[in-house]
Amino acid sequence: MKIALGCDHAGLKLKNALIAHLKEKGIETVDFGTYTADSCDYPVYAEKTARAVIGGECDLGILCCGTGIGMSMAANKIRGIRAAALSDAFSAEATRRHNNANILCLGERVVGEGLGCMLADIFIETPFDGGRHQKRIDLISKLDDR
Ligand code: RB5
Repeated sequence: MKIALGCDHAGLKLKNALIAHLKEKGIETVDFGTYTADSCDYPVYAEKTARAVIGGECDLGILCCGTGIGMSMAANKIRGIRAAALSDAFSAEATRRHNNANILCLGERVVGEGLGCMLADIFIETPFDGGRHQKRIDLISKLDDR
């Protein structure tokens, strides 16, 4: 399991905490930046991270910004990405089981480091249920073609 991570300046501390947490658990990470607290544009890092997931370099992605919302909007523009901005455990599990989400988006101004790490653990460890949900994922994919 290899996790791609990206952030803007407003998500840097949370991203760094997530990387340390995942490394401690023996999970491989790839950090697509940003690497400093200088103000920057979140779509740049959303795209780099999303392309690593779509290209197969990484299995899943995690994006951090102030709210998680801008990152999810940007990442969802990339064909095949299903990015979910969330801040509760139920949604973290459900978006893997039902939506087969491949990117988790977290807001550093919304969740603390402890909750952020817990949500990442749930997201990474929960499988897609498949079955009736696959048809709905296929319908989402078809929207890319219209
Ligand atoms: C940066 O100030 C902030 O707008 C950004 O991190 C993010 O929250 C956007 O959705």
